[in-house]
Amino acid sequence: MSDTKSQVQNGFETETWSRSDDLIIFVNGKKVVEKNPDPEMTLLFYLRRKLGLTGTKLGCAEGGCGACTVMISRFDLHSQRLLHVAVNACLAPLCSLHLTAITTIEGIGSTARKLHPVQERLAQAHGSQCGFCTPGLVMSMYALLRNNPRPNMEHLHQAFQGNLCRCTGYRPILEGFKTFTQNGSCCKGRVNGCCMNQDQGLDQDSDQDSGLSQTLYDSSEFMPFDPTQEVIFPPELNSLTRSTKSKALVFRSPRCTWVQPDSLDQLLDLKWTFPETRIVVGNTEVGIEVKFKNLVYPVLVSPTQVPELNSVQYTEKGIEFGAAVSLDHMETVLQDAVRSHPAHQTEVFRAILEQLRWFAGKQIRNVAALGGNIMTASPISDLNPVLMSTAAKLTLRDREGSRVVQMDQNFFTGYRRTLVQPTEVLVSVEVPYSREGQVVRAYKTSRRREDDISIVTATFNVTFEPSSSQVQELRLAFGGMGPTTVLAMQTGNGLRGRYWGEELLQNACFSLADEMAIDPSSPGGMVSYRRTLVLSLFYKFYLSVLQNLREQGMKVETVPAEYLSATEVFHPPTPSGVQVYQAVPSGQRLEDVVGRPLMHVSAEQQASGEALYCDDLKPHDNELYLSLICSTRAHAKILSIDSSEAQAMPSVACVLFAEDVPGSNRTGPIVYDETVLAQGEVTCVGHVIGAVVAETQADAQKAAKSVKIQYEDLPTVITIQEAIEAQSFYEPIRTLQKGDLDEGFKQSDHILEGELHMGGQEHFYLETNVTVAVPRDQGEMEIFSSTQCPSKTQSLVAKALGIASNRVHVRVKRMGGGFGGKESRTTILSTVVALASHRLRRPVRCMLDRDEDMLVTGGRHPFYAKYKVGFSDSGRVLALDVTYYSNAGNSLDLSLSVMERALFHMENSYLIPNVRGQGVLCRTNLPSNTAFRGFGGPQGMMVCEDWISAIALRLGRASEQIRELNLYSEGDQTPYNQVLENFTLRRCWDECLDRVNIQDRRAKILDFNKQNRWNKRGLAVVPTKFGIAFTAAFLNQAGALVHIYTDGSVLLAHGGTEMGQGLHTKMIQVCSRALAIPVTKIHVCETSSHSVANTSPTAASASSDLNGAAVLNSCKVLNQRLQHYKDRDPHGTWESWVQAAYFDRVNLSANGFYRTPDLGYDFETNSGRVFNYFTYGVCCSEVEIDCLTGAHKNLSSTIVMDVGHSLNPALDIGQVEGGFMQGVGLFTLEQLLYSPNGVLLTRGPGTYKIPGFGDIPTQLQVSLLRDAPNDKALYSSKAIGEPPLFLAASVFFALKDAIDAARLESGLSGPFRLDSPATAERIRTACADRFTKMCPAAEPGTYKPWAVIV
Ligand SMILES: Cc1cc2nc3c(=O)[nH]c(=O)nc-3n(C[C@H](O)[C@H](O)[C@H](O)COP(=O)(O)OP(=O)(O)OC[C@H]3O[C@@H](n4cnc5c(N)ncnc54)[C@H](O)[C@@H]3O)c2cc1C
Ligand code: FES
Ligand code: FES
Repeated sequence: MSDTKSQVQNGFETETWSRSDDLIIFVNGKKVVEKNPDPEMTLLFYLRRKLGLTGTKLGCAEGGCGACTVMISRFDLHSQRLLHVAVNACLAPLCSLHLTAITTIEGIGSTARKLHPVQERLAQAHGSQCGFCTPGLVMSMYALLRNNPRPNMEHLHQAFQGNLCRCTGYRPILEGFKTFTQNGSCCKGRVNGCCMNQDQGLDQDSDQDSGLSQTLYDSSEFMPFDPTQEVIFPPELNSLTRSTKSKALVFRSPRCTWVQPDSLDQLLDLKWTFPETRIVVGNTEVGIEVKFKNLVYPVLVSPTQVPELNSVQYTEKGIEFGAAVSLDHMETVLQDAVRSHPAHQTEVFRAILEQLRWFAGKQIRNVAALGGNIMTASPISDLNPVLMSTAAKLTLRDREGSRVVQMDQNFFTGYRRTLVQPTEVLVSVEVPYSREGQVVRAYKTSRRREDDISIVTATFNVTFEPSSSQVQELRLAFGGMGPTTVLAMQTGNGLRGRYWGEELLQNACFSLADEMAIDPSSPGGMVSYRRTLVLSLFYKFYLSVLQNLREQGMKVETVPAEYLSATEVFHPPTPSGVQVYQAVPSGQRLEDVVGRPLMHVSAEQQASGEALYCDDLKPHDNELYLSLICSTRAHAKILSIDSSEAQAMPSVACVLFAEDVPGSNRTGPIVYDETVLAQGEVTCVGHVIGAVVAETQADAQKAAKSVKIQYEDLPTVITIQEAIEAQSFYEPIRTLQKGDLDEGFKQSDHILEGELHMGGQEHFYLETNVTVAVPRDQGEMEIFSSTQCPSKTQSLVAKALGIASNRVHVRVKRMGGGFGGKESRTTILSTVVALASHRLRRPVRCMLDRDEDMLVTGGRHPFYAKYKVGFSDSGRVLALDVTYYSNAGNSLDLSLSVMERALFHMENSYLIPNVRGQGVLCRTNLPSNTAFRGFGGPQGMMVCEDWISAIALRLGRASEQIRELNLYSEGDQTPYNQVLENFTLRRCWDECLDRVNIQDRRAKILDFNKQNRWNKRGLAVVPTKFGIAFTAAFLNQAGALVHIYTDGSVLLAHGGTEMGQGLHTKMIQVCSRALAIPVTKIHVCETSSHSVANTSPTAASASSDLNGAAVLNSCKVLNQRLQHYKDRDPHGTWESWVQAAYFDRVNLSANGFYRTPDLGYDFETNSGRVFNYFTYGVCCSEVEIDCLTGAHKNLSSTIVMDVGHSLNPALDIGQVEGGFMQGVGLFTLEQLLYSPNGVLLTRGPGTYKIPGFGDIPTQLQVSLLRDAPNDKALYSSKAIGEPPLFLAASVFFALKDAIDAARLESGLSGPFRLDSPATAERIRTACADRFTKMCPAAEPGTYKPWAVIV
């Protein structure tokens, strides 16, 4: 502790604050008295570690994912009302919860007692896949219903802004919960999708006639929801709250004191005596500083009992909000005020409400305070621009008096600094009424609309001379344009006295472009975009005011009708969805569940929080915690390591480095080109150098941070371009070639050359990597790991420890998502945890923090491609020469196979007679990139779709015409000479185009675009053909083990792992059909290296095919053994046959095995079979862009997918929708940013944006192609995990289509480059216009950018 810090803490020893009170809370109705609550402890840690309530999950620890949502209830003496709020337990300080009731997922229902309707409906609507997000979603919904038993869709939108799900694509969650809403009850929720399929080209009756079904669950069976049956507020807490006299509270730990004064004087005294004390209200800033910036505050002061800071008062000039009033309460007050006051008085209130609509998520708004937002002084605060542009008045007080200051250009004195003195407290904020002749508008731009920090946020406030369009005052405030919120004084003053019109607009733009210039190296990057936004947002305001003035009868220029949409405020529409699949044949036995939409077998446990994930395992006796020591340099020699401080900490058990590895320090999934712990040199930021093992997580992490490492920097290669320059490649460079390229180009009427960069992607599984290692006797090691590949974990742990694989037992119950990220990279952690456990002979655990996980584990490979394509006048492709470069990172990992799959998908679904593809793996100083759903396929196909769209732009034709013209036909051969059999893609194509009524759609879009200058719509249809099989032939094998017990129950084990995709459910379905027994008799316990050996990773979409066939083989063996007893007793039961066989000494366990036949491809000769078969799909998407900001809406997506005869349509549709939304993230939202030195800048949900609820297409229709049996896989089914992801490219190309329409307005036509993802920045920049011209990007090479494209 620093000197000042210890003085502050010591000061408290001698003061009245030296005592420590008891903290009283009620958790799920039970009273808990905590004698020594730790002021630094979060509620989440307390629930999970102290109370063992592991249903509440940890996804990010920064309030950004909602996995930790719980409900807090308290009785408010002031309003005499019970208040229920959803909060993020990961940020809520335990000490802030005195005299509250906390309801966790365990408190509302369980499978053992009874599920709560919220839990039941989410599970039954198939809204839970991996289930890691599920408890948080349930609690958000539960809290909403406790406040409002009949919510509407708008309430639902608000409630889920702070919850993320990486698996489902959100649609089924919304549908399940929609049944609680007023709108959702139109058909009493009886038929899924009943009220949502208008206008989607679906004739429900005729579809049903043809054996198609649209019902994935029967909501008429849902338990009714009766709000009167909810758990009551604990009566004892009620009387405690009423009877406890208000008094100051103190909670102490050796490091920190928490004080809750009960009067303003007390608070001011505290601040006066100890100015370093930190006021904390919602802890949504302080919590982040403590966790991620390692700040230690010795004294935290909570002002929640200080009346002046919590009151709301109407004054003559406006509304005065106490600084500790929550944003949610503020919103309610302002909404009331807007309803009860004349419109001209509430301009400022409405501007604040508009900002609050998109401010964080509900859980944050429920606790975060207005004062906290102001005092944080963040340059991207959303409220400060409103307060600054409207000169809100702030009352500041210290022990000597008070002063009122205006929020103006002098308030912020520097980055995160204000003129408020350390002894002062912000008491209240007066938000002014507006007056006649005043217009105030607030705007926020961000990567994702919901729960995202701003890129640029602005508020404009203009006051006109009475009955005139002459400006009396103009205040323009911006966030995101410098180290503080800024007021554009020069522009505002310069425009005073001017009349509102084109001339004023031009002056404003020139002046703003000059005044808001920022350095090209500015933190946050996107410099020319941010500058353009300043002008674009002002332009929106300009039009809005112009329209306003006209409506008031002023003589001003007319706003052209086609410009009006630029003034509209975005309000989220209610999404709707339809799912169509083929029902099972009418004669199929009821107990035969193959082909039926069976719910995920763990869904109910997931929804009730009972499902256990790796970190939910109760701590073992004597268990230790491990924290990694990682490199902060991208490429450097390690000169020295000083871990003495860590070693000296009493709680530290050991510090491990490379020399402590008893076996081999060389590791890697295919080639051993990695280290378990770095030896002498580091090759990326995040390279694991060592580990600290301590008694607690906090101690281990603190000790790890104390280790000092001296480096000598070596030259780095970070980006693909740098790798090309340095020729830094891995061997081999793959080439796939067919036909005569020169001849093809000769025959071509046109030749087009182009380039595309496609960014990488973070897996963002909601559960980060976890390993718990437990040493057993005889040198055995038991490993619980969140891995897709138990066998690889087993062999690499054995190798590192220098023991045989038969001593390592790897167990996987379930994962909270994997997506390829837990295929090989999990061993980075599991080998080190096993090493520590082996060394200390004690159980050791580590769950990576979200930022660590993102830093060390790598993601999808970024790709860059250069292509040359030749085509005829008609658009037929004749020749293609393409070179792909991938950013493989600092080790080979699976990069070669990823690149091979990219090459195998370079023609996507099109026949190209002459083709050459080359794949180059760039060796860079980034963490090794790895498998990710699609495994290179999406990158390969994306480049293909880019040149196809470029051909359409060059020829001026609709892109779907060019695509259709080039589509493969039955019997065609791929570049790797595989003949396409059972080619159903054309059927998918026709059905998709039919469903969307393409001609009509195109005409409507054309019409819309004619009528709207600043909003444009676009459409694209994209096919996919995804090859099924591991491209490494030896991996196409699987095993299963089936035990029948004497009571007839069956324990099924197979080599696949469950990560949410429903593999265990499908395997149970297969086993159930094969043995002809109900699914209730079959159980899958876990995946264990002791049950099934030498398993392939659960990957390549092939796990159902491979493991299902192995399960089937086991069952065939068992059936043969039982047949005799069935024949002998045809009227017997399953149990009686099993008993008879047992007494006859028949082996009731059978091992099954399967290998995919006829696989084996050779690149040298371009011969041999690569894939077992293909999964096909087509998607048509329509979007709308805001040309001025680059924001977009996903209007509709219509998917037709061939999954053969689906084993389980609910799970398969879940994969389609979930994969599709992950693709939407990949192609439009998710952007990993690295500094030029190779430091990952986006390390959590705050900066890395995966799709949220608001990103689902307004209309999403998924149809599984009917009558398409697949003779190459189990029960005619097809693999589905990866193929749908690429269909989201249709959204990307629809955006490109819309941008093209915008560019035409500026006289630009023909092909243009749009890299992926199509972020708001890229869309805006591509929509070149007068504003973009005024803000050109600085010349590359003239400055050091904040972030680079890797
Ligand atoms: C997931 C997430 C999303 C977010 N989204 C947004 C967003 O969309 N827009 C946005 O603008 N911000 C956002 N934020 C930032 C943050 O939520 C807000 O700034 C919030 O208003 C802070 O309030 P708080 O009560 O939680 O502050 P705290 O963390 O409790 O305190 C913040 C700071 O203010 C000081 N302080 C608080 N009250 C007083 C007082 N009365 N007098 C003197 N000092 C005081 C504290 O000492 C501390 O330094 C987000 C944060 C998170 C974690
Ligand atoms: S864990 Fe709390 S919001 Fe993510
Ligand atoms: S089910 Fe939502 S994150 Fe997996």
